[in-house]
Formats: sequence, structure tokens, C-alpha cells
Amino acid sequence: MPEGTHPLSAGLKRILVVTGSGISAESGIPTFRGQGGYWRNLDPSKLATEAAFRKDPELVWQWYEERRALIRRSQPNAAHQALVQLAGKARDFLILTQNVDDLQARAEWQAKRLDGSQIVQIHGDIFVTKCSRCTFSRREINKESEGVPSCPNCGAMMRPGVVWFDEELNPDEVARVENFFLAGVCDLVLVIGTTAVFDYIVNWALKAKGTDGRLIEINPEETPLSQFATETFRAPAAKIMPKLVEGFLQ
Ligand code: APR
Repeated sequence: MPEGTHPLSAGLKRILVVTGSGISAESGIPTFRGQGGYWRNLDPSKLATEAAFRKDPELVWQWYEERRALIRRSQPNAAHQALVQLAGKARDFLILTQNVDDLQARAEWQAKRLDGSQIVQIHGDIFVTKCSRCTFSRREINKESEGVPSCPNCGAMMRPGVVWFDEELNPDEVARVENFFLAGVCDLVLVIGTTAVFDYIVNWALKAKGTDGRLIEINPEETPLSQFATETFRAPAAKIMPKLVEGFLQ
């Protein structure tokens, strides 16, 4: 068991896991910020905006199509798998991910648990294509589109079903997170592979921790949440998560 962890005791059954792009890094998907984050010398945080889409929809779609293709070729890693193990042992469990990839969901399918209700993709799903004008939307996991698709319903430009930097969160997904909090604070909060730049992410993690909960951060780098962590592991997620979860489940 890694130093500083304790077994998942009887009182440690309500768990929130907050993940960011760092958990998928070892599956070969570049994080947004930091090494390998840039695409064709462009900053993804500038591409992932409604304004960028209005200005150059072709370019924004090219970036998303490349990312979709990369995610399709990638496999869940040991950190995604470890979370499935942990989910199976917790009484209440929620993964709040900022990732738009489907690697966590695929780890669940591979484990034959199929319980998507325990994952909230707060920034949307990269495999959803939705109309920029009407409510039409479809999920297209294997379809590659060329250029900017048009809505079969109203003819307007279609766009990826993700939440861009200059957009509001989907209220239905926010409600799913808030519902999880209705049953009270958590015994354990794991924060894995996120720079935690958004206030709502920091606030949810701290709300879940409450005054007495444990907050464990797994990230090679320090983040704004580090100061609130009761334990930190400065190591890659796929390396540390299996041991950490094994320790909890003893
Ligand atoms: N294991 C754990 N953490 C890692 C690993 C790894 N192998 N590799 C990198 N990290 C950490 C980095 O140190 C960094 O803190 O993952 C974090 C990645 O940060 P970002 O690229 O900023 O990703 P994220 O926090 O998910 O970004 C939040 O911003 O761009 C938007 O919508 C996008 O959902 C994304 C959001």
C-alpha cells in the first residue's frame, strides 16, 4: 500500500472522484495545457471556443476529428480500470470528469459493469455532434465526417457536443452533480490529473470533502487544490492508482 493510505474502512463508502485530462495522458491523449498540448502550433484553449468556431468552423472541426480519431485508437489505462474496481466497492460513487473522451466509460464496459450513471462528463462528450441552432443531436462513435456537417433537421452547421470555454455548463449535468451532494459530504475525494483551473471544480471538490473528509490529489504537478489535499501523490495516475485502490480495498 502506498505510504499514507488507509484501507477503505466501514466509514469510507461515499466517494467522489474528480478527473481531468491527466488521467488519459498515459493512454496517449495529450493534455490541454503543458507538453504536447499544442496542435499545429495552436493553443487548444483558444480553439475550444464558440468564437473560434464562428470564425473558422473547418479548422475547429479538423482539430476535433483528429482528437476523435486518437481517442478511438486509444485504450483505457490502469487508472481508469482502478476506478472501476473502486466503484464496485463504494456505497455511493461518482466520477466527475472534465474529459470529453470515453475512456472511463469503456473501462466500465470492459469490466462488464455498464454503469454510466456513475460518470458525469461535465464538459460534454466528444462523440456527440449537435446542431448549432436547433436541438438536433446524435452520437457517432465510429463515423468520421469531412468538413463541417450540416443539420439534417434545419441545415445549420453542426458542432461537437462539448462545452466550450466561453459557454455555460449543461444544467442537467450540473443537477446530477448537485444531486450527488444531497446525500451529504464524502468520506473520500480523489482528484486525478487536473490543473483545477475552474472554480466550480475546486468548489465541488471542497464541498464534497467537507471539514473532515480526505482529499487525495494524484498529479505530478502542484495545482490550486494541492493546498487543501490531505494526501498528495506526485506521480502519473496509471502508475499510482492501482496500488492506491488495492490499498483501499484491503
Ligand atoms: N497522471 C496524472 N496527472 C497528470 C498526468 C498523469 N500521467 N499527466 C499530466 N497530468 C496532470 C498535469 O500536471 C496537469 O495538472 O494533468 C493536468 C492536465 O491539465 P489540463 O491539460 O489543464 O487538463 P484539465 O485540468 O483536464 O483541463 C480542464 O480545460 O481545456 C479545458 O475543457 C478542457 O476539460 C478540460 C479543462
